[in-house]
Amino acid sequence: MDVLTTTAGAPSASAAGTAGPATPASSAADPFRPEWHFTSERNWLNDPNGMVYLNGTYHLFYQHNPFGPDWGNMSWGHATSRDLLSWEEQPVAIPCDEREAIFSGSAVFDQHNTSGLGTAGNPPLVAIYTSAYSDASPLGGRQAQSLAYSLDEGTTWTKYSGNPVLDRASADFRDPKVFRYDGGAGSYWVMVAVEAVERQVVLYKSADLKSWEYLSTFGPANATGGVWECPDLFELPVDGNPADSRWVLIVNINPGGIAGGSAGQYFLGEFDGVAFRSGSTVTEGLQQDGSLMREYGWLDWGRDYYAAVSFSGIADGRRIMIGWMNNWDYAGSTPTGGWRSAMSLPREVSLARLDGKVVLRQAAIDPFEGAISPGVRCGPRPLPPGVLELPASAAVARIDVEFEPGTANSVGLLVRAGRAERTVLSYDVEEGLLRLDRRESGQAGFHHSFPSVEAVAVPLQDGRLRLKIYLDRCSVEVFAQDGLATITDLVFPAEASTALAVFAEGEGAHLVALDVVGR
Ligand code: FRU
Repeated sequence: MDVLTTTAGAPSASAAGTAGPATPASSAADPFRPEWHFTSERNWLNDPNGMVYLNGTYHLFYQHNPFGPDWGNMSWGHATSRDLLSWEEQPVAIPCDEREAIFSGSAVFDQHNTSGLGTAGNPPLVAIYTSAYSDASPLGGRQAQSLAYSLDEGTTWTKYSGNPVLDRASADFRDPKVFRYDGGAGSYWVMVAVEAVERQVVLYKSADLKSWEYLSTFGPANATGGVWECPDLFELPVDGNPADSRWVLIVNINPGGIAGGSAGQYFLGEFDGVAFRSGSTVTEGLQQDGSLMREYGWLDWGRDYYAAVSFSGIADGRRIMIGWMNNWDYAGSTPTGGWRSAMSLPREVSLARLDGKVVLRQAAIDPFEGAISPGVRCGPRPLPPGVLELPASAAVARIDVEFEPGTANSVGLLVRAGRAERTVLSYDVEEGLLRLDRRESGQAGFHHSFPSVEAVAVPLQDGRLRLKIYLDRCSVEVFAQDGLATITDLVFPAEASTALAVFAEGEGAHLVALDVVGR
């Protein structure tokens, strides 16, 4: 293997040790424990729940089993952060009891005390969650929507005595996301939730969060190969122009995701305060050509970005989402000790117009922003056929790379590489496909469906491919062409497998620039 020489910077990214603004979590003696992705100290975690920003603090609640590393006893865990990167775990917020499990949902700051659950002087935080009733309840077998409230900024929670507040006598009615609608039709709370098995999003409205009136139903549409879960609905300006906005409907689906198992799809459309309408239909959704991307798409093309929903209460216009970085196909088998599952990095989502089309862009909240200097920097330089090892190694890093493939057949990177393992990110010029191959990424045999190759169509822009890649001990998150497409995958390599390399197949490629910032 040839070794690339750097044009600037320190000889090794690990030696450069450039720290971002936040303090990383401890990972001592736990090679898979991420530094910048939230994990609970112990036990099981799945969906992000009730994400809300209030008085300088981001609250992340999450599906949690307080008693073990497998799914069960579902309760809302709680963590707080002031920068979305360093999280402090708090006591369990809403525990299950013998009558109900506390399934996914959302939280809002009820500033004007419309619910009456607080006072005008001390308005409540209100969590809207799914009560999954056990046989010990008279409602056994049903899923219905319930409230809990906090009068001390999320520290302690009380269940509302009138629960449930919305019951359709359904066994699969769940995952309420509530937001404040202020538009042509009035000003009220809107709930989007799913009839999971019907592949439908149902919309309701309320003046007080306690009594709900049916508005409309969306779906089934587009990807319907699994149950619909964890919806979200929000408006975003196109290119920052509020006069030109779209509503984005998020529908997570399991299985039936683009890379197999769990994934998040989205629809762009309009919401008039009653119904969401999108240009996409089931028929369009079945066409496997580029045109279907005009109206809907996938939030991520990897295996490990699920149950993604957005924060409420962020008043500066940023829409920030977090996904559960796992896949129901194998989530119960991932080889971590004592804890299971991490959240994705938070992502800011926005809309832009590109070649006349409205497209979704995503950018991670960046743990390395503010880093003083890149650890390693190379390019511009020709990239001859073969593999060039970088004079850098990293298990926790951000890699910014720009390729000009030219006449080469493919270009790419190896990350988390060791003697017998590597994760391969490659771009096939003729197919226009970016692939992430984790078949030989390390421990992969814990579940038959874990070894996989993900692919997404990524057109070159001005002949170039720009990638931003975040590594964090057990994950690879790829943002291609400034966040137009993303691939998120878990990997479980040996701790020592930290080598990085670039490669080309065929003559004529250039490495325009490569920066590694890491630890
Ligand atoms: C999604 C989901 C939700 C449900 C929760 C239960 O991953 O299945 O639909 O509320 O997990 O933990």
